[in-house]
Amino acid sequence: MTDGVDLTDLDMWARGVPYAEFARLRREAPVAWHDEAAPNSGFWSVTGYSDIVAASRDVATFSSARGISFEEPTDEDMAARRTIIDTDPPGHTKLRKIVSGGFSVRAVAVYQHFVEGLTEQVLDTALTGPVLSGREFDFVDAVAKQVPIRVLARIMGLPEAGLDEFIDLGDRLIANTDPDITDVVWGRDDTDAYRLFPFRSPYGKQLWDLGRAVVAERLRSPGDDLLSRLLAAEVDGDRLSEVDLDNFFSILVIAGNETTRIAIAQGVLAFCENPGQWDRLRAAPELLDAAADEVIRWSCPTHFMRRTAAVDTEFGGVAMQAGDKVVLWYVSGNRDEAEFADPEVFDVGRTPNRHLSFGRGGPHLCLGVHLARLEVKIVLAALARRVARFELAGEPRRIRSNFTNGLKALPVRVIPA
Ligand code: HEM
Repeated sequence: MTDGVDLTDLDMWARGVPYAEFARLRREAPVAWHDEAAPNSGFWSVTGYSDIVAASRDVATFSSARGISFEEPTDEDMAARRTIIDTDPPGHTKLRKIVSGGFSVRAVAVYQHFVEGLTEQVLDTALTGPVLSGREFDFVDAVAKQVPIRVLARIMGLPEAGLDEFIDLGDRLIANTDPDITDVVWGRDDTDAYRLFPFRSPYGKQLWDLGRAVVAERLRSPGDDLLSRLLAAEVDGDRLSEVDLDNFFSILVIAGNETTRIAIAQGVLAFCENPGQWDRLRAAPELLDAAADEVIRWSCPTHFMRRTAAVDTEFGGVAMQAGDKVVLWYVSGNRDEAEFADPEVFDVGRTPNRHLSFGRGGPHLCLGVHLARLEVKIVLAALARRVARFELAGEPRRIRSNFTNGLKALPVRVIPA
């Protein structure tokens, strides 16, 4: 609990993002201590835009090496499942050099035609005759869920046959606090037996095993996919180790799938609620780049990233001790009136839009930023050609999580263009 709001209350998050509480915290206690239920030890809650950017930048003080969620893993847990996102420089710098070439603007542009074709196929299947005549359907299931995993499959050379299993495992991990999605619920069930696996979950082990099978196959017969290139990539004579490969595979499936799905689904929800913005975008396709970024600001798929104070420090007017957890609430920074004009307005023409949804200022800036933007933009463009209006046909169902802004279902109706 901090200043009257419990940001670890997942049932509150299942009802909606506590934007009003965040606005109050930004005004009254922008860096505030938040107690947590045992066995966790509590955390500093950072809610203002400029503090979040400053902490992200200062990697010597705010380390990623103890993990990026609320969990407090042991050294042994961390060693087994550390991914690029849980490393500090110089180790991080080296890992990032090995993998970053595959995600540059140029590297990603190669996939444009593929993503366009895939999106058209998904929409052909989703927007059937009855749907175009007004029948309601679940946008998450029919569209938002379908595109990102297939893009990942393509760039990593994953077999088409295992896609549903990848989606399912990725969901069970990232939504590991929602009993509708996983039967091993973090914070409720005893997860000690799984502490060496990603997300402290048996499904983390399954994802590793799947990844290993794919890696073995790529080693046997390398292709022109990203995974084959990663396997061959060297920096200072080093290649990715086996542990690095396991964990890199799992972070890509988790970070690249659910996040982009959330942006697409929450974006369409925003257009249901702001039909004037949809009309505006359809009338001015040159707004697509700005609209994609506004969708990503607005949806903020990952609510926070955590750091850990590496030394005793003074920050935002409070004294932190080495070892304290520090939670950077991107979802709050994205609505900070000190950075954004009318932050509560969904504005597809917003410029500048220096949102925090991909992180900002630090070395961990989302590796998939160009790919994610490309996907969101292409899906918006294709929808804009086919759909004149989105209407909400029922209550959206939110994932019970304070980490992701995911939707389990988004019932909508469309009016065709
Ligand atoms: C809208 C979609 C996405 C959002 C909102 C998002 C968000 C984020 C955030 C917040 C971080 C951490 C930033 C930080 O701590 O400073 C991150 C890191 C990362 N993201 Fe994304 N992401 C998205 C899509 C993707 C995609 C498509 C991929 C890959 C295919 C990807 C791969 C990664 C990786 C590997 C990292 C770790 C980078 C590092 O530690 O150096 N993400 N992402």
